[in-house]
Amino acid sequence: MPAPKKLHIKTYGCQMNVYDSERMAEAMGGQGYEMTDCPEEADMILLNTCHIREKAAEKVYSDLGRLKPLREAKPDLKIGVAGCVAQAEGAEIMARQPMVDLVVGPQTYHRLPAMMERVEAGEKALDTDMPEEDKFDHLPKLRTPTARPTAFLTVQEGCDKFCAFCVVPYTRGAEVSRPVERLLREARDLVARGVKEITLLGQNVNGYHGEGPDGRTWSLADLIWALDGIEGLERIRFTTSHPNDMTDDLIEAHGTCAKLMPYLHLPVQSGSDRILKAMNRKHTAEDYVAIIDRLRALRPDLALSGDFIVGFPGEMEEDFEATMALVRRVGYAAAYSFRYSARPGTPAAEKPDVPMDVAVERLHRLQALITDQQRAAQDAMVGRETTVLFEKAGRKPGQLVGKSEHLQAVHAEAPEALLGEVARVRIVAAKTNSLEAVLI
Ligand code: SAH
Ligand code: SF4
Ligand code: F3S
Repeated sequence: MPAPKKLHIKTYGCQMNVYDSERMAEAMGGQGYEMTDCPEEADMILLNTCHIREKAAEKVYSDLGRLKPLREAKPDLKIGVAGCVAQAEGAEIMARQPMVDLVVGPQTYHRLPAMMERVEAGEKALDTDMPEEDKFDHLPKLRTPTARPTAFLTVQEGCDKFCAFCVVPYTRGAEVSRPVERLLREARDLVARGVKEITLLGQNVNGYHGEGPDGRTWSLADLIWALDGIEGLERIRFTTSHPNDMTDDLIEAHGTCAKLMPYLHLPVQSGSDRILKAMNRKHTAEDYVAIIDRLRALRPDLALSGDFIVGFPGEMEEDFEATMALVRRVGYAAAYSFRYSARPGTPAAEKPDVPMDVAVERLHRLQALITDQQRAAQDAMVGRETTVLFEKAGRKPGQLVGKSEHLQAVHAEAPEALLGEVARVRIVAAKTNSLEAVLI
């Protein structure tokens, strides 16, 4: 028997790409490829790329440049580009970097095995269709043994919201929800293999509207309640949500569903109504705060995280101040902030940029505020009892590390038998990025 061929995948961007990379690895397993962490050992290197900001997209080209010597030393090495840069730039990638053998967009991974046959025969392969069929229906069932007790599950793909700055509706296509039955089957399968926590994924996950087994259209809350009934599954999370799709049933689930973790990533992007309008977000800052207030009334310990864009075209100092005021008003346990990056093909890219030094200075101010809030959220945990799902061994012997309900990293002295289990702990100390706990 010939030695198995080796595949190395590098994943950029969001969790949906992480999930997709796992599925591609499985599809390639059927073609006789084994995974390797080491690019030098690989017969095929696949970059699963992100187009969200210019830096992310350009990183792909610098990484491709770095692969050149590998390819020169090993002319049989095949190189592929998947993901959102593949979708956005298509054949342009091969024009800029002729050693690329394969370009595949995010909605056609099920065609990867057939494309690989052509690549192995020395041809180039390119597919950036947005087909009607669901790629996941045509990808093999999960087979890889999971070593971790947490898993992602993509329930919804694409986005119809067309925020003025964002490439996702173009790179991922229209919003599509996967049918309930298939998701429950996949969830049960994950739980049977030791998974205790599932994070439901979608670019606009709370816009989920999948076909239910009863023929009805199910909401994300309906799906969460069905998952709640799976014995052995202990924690449910979902990401990323849009404020306009925080429906009553989903808000209520935060107060009543015990398995739904008290952590919500709810991006708002800006605290200025003028900028929100220009961003085509279709909600005001007050709408957003009202949702948070309702959620906190039902679940006072809810930890919030968000995304912010600083320096969107037309942002004035007073708009930025409104963002700072909103952050102070909400109080985030974590938040991600980005300097606006003009993306080709999006409406906002037509408008003049805020000067770079102004945007950078605002970003620093926002990040300093967020860091303070994050630190306060960590400190507030000291003395509290909570649960931790232990995921791996810690740096010190006898230590395990895992995540709190609020998605904070926690380490504790704990027997190895607790690996992969949820345990009750008391938090005894806080650092900026981790918490120390003792078992109760
Ligand atoms: N669907 C999600 C997240 C999409 S991308 C949502 O609607 O919230 C993740 C984050 O990247 C966004 O929330 C936004 O803050 C940021 N982002 C998207 N496009 C960007 C751009 N052109 N420049 C800077 N940041 C951007
Ligand atoms: Fe992009 Fe807006 Fe869709 Fe989020 S909701 S993916 S920011 S277009
Ligand atoms: Fe990036 Fe595509 Fe995700 S652009 S953030 S990898 S959907």
